Amino acid sequence: MEKVRLGIIGFGVQGGNYADFIANGKVKGMEIGAICDIEEEKQEAAKQQYPNVPFFNNYTDMLESGNVDAIVTCVPHYLHPEMGIGSIKRDIHALIEKPAGVYTKQVKELNDFAATKPDVLFGIMFNQRTNKLYQKVKEIVDSGDIGNIRRTNWIITSWWRPQGYYEQSAWRATWEGEGGGVLVNQAPHQIDLLQWICGMPKKVYSNVKYGYQRNIPVEDEVTVLLDYGNGATGVFITCTHDVIGTDRFEILGDNGKIVVEDSKKVTIKRLHKPEAEMSATMSMQEVNEIVTGKGTEGIYNEEVLEFESAWGEQHINVLQNFANSLIHGEAILAPGSDGINGVSLANAIHLSSWLGKEVELPIDEEVYYQELMKKVEEERNTAVK
Ligand SMILES: NC(=O)c1ccc[n+]([C@@H]2O[C@H](COP(=O)([O-])OP(=O)(O)OC[C@H]3O[C@@H](n4cnc5c(N)ncnc54)[C@H](O)[C@@H]3O)[C@@H](O)[C@H]2O)c1
Repeated sequence: MEKVRLGIIGFGVQGGNYADFIANGKVKGMEIGAICDIEEEKQEAAKQQYPNVPFFNNYTDMLESGNVDAIVTCVPHYLHPEMGIGSIKRDIHALIEKPAGVYTKQVKELNDFAATKPDVLFGIMFNQRTNKLYQKVKEIVDSGDIGNIRRTNWIITSWWRPQGYYEQSAWRATWEGEGGGVLVNQAPHQIDLLQWICGMPKKVYSNVKYGYQRNIPVEDEVTVLLDYGNGATGVFITCTHDVIGTDRFEILGDNGKIVVEDSKKVTIKRLHKPEAEMSATMSMQEVNEIVTGKGTEGIYNEEVLEFESAWGEQHINVLQNFANSLIHGEAILAPGSDGINGVSLANAIHLSSWLGKEVELPIDEEVYYQELMKKVEEERNTAVK
């Protein structure tokens, strides 16, 4: 393949961004093959902006048109698995948007189906995996440099969204249209990075608030206690109502600590001796002498790294990697099948709050699905009244 003709399904905010990147030549080897949306005004907008690009109002017609080699699913999350399967079934490469789906049962169907077609490329838009900062953090953790993880803390409350954001489109922040709030829309990026870098927890216990500071039925405030099953624990906090939000990720290991601030600055402190050895061999007085006399150099060394990563750049990098993978066989940065981990974790966090107890991963996907459908039903009944 010399050029990838990408079919953009959903010409809303994100589909519009990708069309703009590709049309402006920001993704080498990729062109817009076709655009699809079900709304008439999107059709008019697409025809006006991209008069030479075929438009479809049904995605299966687009898949069967011969106009596209690959698709990207810029549609509400529930639809990603169905469209992914529809595309892969027709030997059309699929790049699905995050999250991979709303509930693991549907994402599992997608992954199982994709596994039967290994020659069809299946990727997911985890744009933050292209951020050099997080690649570096993963590299350090994987290398064993800071030893086994003891604790992870991520407070990511910089996803501030005003009430008007939720009123942009009817599907947003509803159980029926979106399947959740911050856990399925904004935080999937960090949930993916957390599990990508630190692994999946074995149990979660959550306190989730639904419609706490926003007039929405889904969650806008989440605090989770993570248990990795080997003694390591973690805390994950996210919300959409903190206008002066925090983005701070700490990983404490046996031999050191990594602190990421604002997704821009990483401070790595490497202990000269593992903490257990210090505890066994050093006295409180000795440590005090080092700290008061010479500073901390006698205990650890410190490395500070700063990174810049523009939002659009990350998405362009994923599109570029997808095109390179098809044209040159480059390894894919975020395989589509990885998407299930974040969905699984988000589902477990919801479920823990609904059941009011700690839950083990993997969760019972049928129980989750039934509970989610109850929320959809309650929401429908409330809307009717
Ligand atoms: N990776 C990222 O950083 C990022 C950023 C924003 C959005 N997203 C993801 O992109 C997806 C879309 O988000 P958005 O903000 O663009 O939403 P949006 O509401 O702006 O756009 C969604 C579009 O999908 C269309 N649509 C709905 N059902 C369809 C169907 N059956 N066939 C074709 N089109 C259909 C709608 O008409 C709408 O134009 C979401 O899953 C979201 O999580 C990812």
